[in-house]
Amino acid sequence: MSDLFSKFDDLIALREGLLSTGVTDPFNLVMEKVESPTVAICNGRRTILLGTYNYMGMTFDPDVVAAGKKALDEFGSGTTGSRVLNGTYVGHRAVEDALKDFYAMDHAMVFSTGYQANLGIISTIAGKGDYIILDIDSHASIYDGCAMGNAEIVPFRHNDIDALEKRLKRVPAGAGKLVVLEGVYSMLGDIAPLKEMIAVSKANGAMVLVDEAHSMGFIGEHGRGVAEAQGVIDDVDFIIGTFSKSVGTVGGFCVSNHPKFEILRLVCRPYVFTASLPPSVVATAATSIRKLMDSKAKRNHLWENSKRLHAGLRQLGFKLGTEKSQSAIIAVIMPDLETGAAMWEALLKEGLYVNLARPPATPAGMTLLRCSLCAEHRSEQVEEILGMFAAAGRTTGCI
Ligand SMILES: Cc1ncc(COP(=O)(O)O)c(C=O)c1O
Repeated sequence: MSDLFSKFDDLIALREGLLSTGVTDPFNLVMEKVESPTVAICNGRRTILLGTYNYMGMTFDPDVVAAGKKALDEFGSGTTGSRVLNGTYVGHRAVEDALKDFYAMDHAMVFSTGYQANLGIISTIAGKGDYIILDIDSHASIYDGCAMGNAEIVPFRHNDIDALEKRLKRVPAGAGKLVVLEGVYSMLGDIAPLKEMIAVSKANGAMVLVDEAHSMGFIGEHGRGVAEAQGVIDDVDFIIGTFSKSVGTVGGFCVSNHPKFEILRLVCRPYVFTASLPPSVVATAATSIRKLMDSKAKRNHLWENSKRLHAGLRQLGFKLGTEKSQSAIIAVIMPDLETGAAMWEALLKEGLYVNLARPPATPAGMTLLRCSLCAEHRSEQVEEILGMFAAAGRTTGCI
C-alpha cells in the first residue's frame, strides 16, 4: 500500500527541524483568555495582539455583543440548513440589507465565510470557454475558486498594469473575461493600482471582481475599500468581502449592481450546499456593519497607528514590505524561517503577538512577521509595541 501521506514528508521534516531547535510552535498558539480586541492572555502572560486583522476592533463593541446575545436567545444557536431551504432567517436578510446600504449597491449575497464567497462567485460566473485574468499574488480562496470552475486561468505579475493589459489582449475574441484583483494584498500590506487596472480591464471588455477583505471599514471615505478611495467603485462589477476582519465575526459576501445577480442564489454551489450562518453571527455582523458606516474617527486613528508603527520599525532598522504604510498591515521581512521563528518567539516573550507567515502563503519565498493594527490600539500601546520590537530585535540579532 502506498502511503498517501508521503507527499507531506518534506513539510513534516521542515516542521520537525524547526521545533527541534526548541522554538515555540508559531502555528499552534492558544489564547487562554481574550480581554479586548487588543489584549489576550497567552501562556499565562498578558499579550498585546498585533496579528488579528481585527482592524476596527468591533469584536467587543457592546452593541455588537448585545445583538448577538439577543439573537441567540430569540432564534437559537444555529439554522441547521442551507440558505435556499430552511436557513434564511430575518437576520440573514437584515445583514444583506446592511451590506447594500454600506456599499450603496443593489445586491448582496452572504456566504458562511469569505473563502466560500470567492470559491462560489468565481467558480460560478466564469465557466468553460471564459478567461480569468488574476494577479499572481492572489489569496488562496481566489485560486481555489479558479480551480473549482472550468475557466482558463491567466495570472499576471503582481500589480503590473502592462502585464494585465498584455494578457487581456491575448484572450481570444468573443471569450468572457473576468479580471480578479484585491484592494489590499495581505502579505505585504500593499494596495493595488485599481484605477488604472480597472480602466484597462474595461477598455478590453472584461468584468472586474475586487476582493476588499483587508480594506472594508477602514480605507475610503465610507470605508468601502480601495476602489472607493481611488474613485472607481462604480466600475467594479463584484466586490468580495469578509466578516472575519473589520466586521469582527465570521462570514463572507459579494455585493454587486449586476441586474441578473440574484440568480446566483440558485446556481452557486458554495452558497446552496452548506448551512447558513447562525442567527447570532448575522445579528452581530449587521450591527457592526451599520456602526462601521459612521466610524470616521476610528478610521483616522487607525491611519495614525499604521503610520507611526511603520515609521518606528523603519527607524529601528527593520526591512518592511512597503516604502510607506499603505494599509493597516505592516510586514516585517525576515532573512529566513529560523530567524523569523526566533524573532516571533522573542516578541511573544516580550508580550506581543504577530503572525509568522511563510511560503506558499507569502510571495517570493519570503518569511514575514505580519503586523495588523487595530483602531483600538492606543497610541501608547503602539509605542510599547515598538519597544518590544527593539528588545526582541536585539535579542535575536535582527537589528
Ligand atoms: C484577500 C482575502 N480574501 C478572502 C479571505 C477569506 O476570508 P474568510 O476568513 O472570511 O474566509 C481572506 C482571509 O484571510 C483574505 O485575506
